[in-house]
Amino acid sequence: MGVKALGYVVIETAKPDKWDHFLTQVAGVMRAADAIDGAAQYRIDQRPFRFRIEHSKRDWFKAAGYEVADAAALEKLADQIAGAGRSIEHFSEIDRASRAVTNGFRTNDPAGNGLEFYHGESHTDAPFVSPIGVPGFVTGDMGMGHAVFSAPNFDEVLSFYRDVVGFHETDMPAFHLMGPEAPPMHFAFLHADNGRHHSIAFGEGPVPPSGAVHVMLEYPNLVEVGKAHDRMKQFGYAESASIGQHFNDETVGFYVQTPSGFDLEIGCDSLVIDPANWNVTKHEGISIWGHEWAWQKAMKETQAEAAE
Ligand SMILES: [Fe+2]
Repeated sequence: MGVKALGYVVIETAKPDKWDHFLTQVAGVMRAADAIDGAAQYRIDQRPFRFRIEHSKRDWFKAAGYEVADAAALEKLADQIAGAGRSIEHFSEIDRASRAVTNGFRTNDPAGNGLEFYHGESHTDAPFVSPIGVPGFVTGDMGMGHAVFSAPNFDEVLSFYRDVVGFHETDMPAFHLMGPEAPPMHFAFLHADNGRHHSIAFGEGPVPPSGAVHVMLEYPNLVEVGKAHDRMKQFGYAESASIGQHFNDETVGFYVQTPSGFDLEIGCDSLVIDPANWNVTKHEGISIWGHEWAWQKAMKETQAEAAE
């Protein structure tokens, strides 16, 4: 028993028009008909939606929605999470209908990061057509991509995802982001029961005001990643990290800031693992090459100005 894959994300925003532009014109995802409760929905494949955008007074990553195998798995998971002291809110009829799932519940991890779990996936026969010609996204049984959170209570949150929910460790690194002398920052990259290197990850640190660190979408090739990078620049969206390649999941891509403040990682060529036979790695660096982060760039510019 465990988690099948990341199914969808739920985002609250005061700027639904900005999100619409960002998703359709930069990411190249397809707007679908609104949900029955009025939320905007966006597709990247045959799932009725992968992004659920709720119009709200605030900008906030509300939840990552993960699929489990069936009703029994969902019930067992709800019991385990409740048993671990987390509150559970079962989906209402409107929740179920608007998510196109059989059943589910919402909860959060011990750092307060929003989660939904569900079973009973549905698919639409209507073809996926990107408004700007992205041929498709890498999904299938590996799901939508991954979600990355932050947790000040790192060990407690790790125990929740691994021992209570049933994710599995892929890479458990310690990154020296602030130089070799400073204490390392721990990360956990966890896989679900599929070949995606990680379906969820979190770093040691305070939960950001936007409620998440980033969401990742996998594009079919480097050409599509490069075109998305051009669109980001064309429309003036902020680059959070320049193009580069990760050590752990080998993804080549970049990070762009979404209208809600967290990032979207646009990448390709991600490592596919055998989830049943994986030896946990402990990388010491984030990137093989590239990925100059906006905060690093700003720091360099400040230092250069001071030296003038
Ligand atoms: Fe990522």
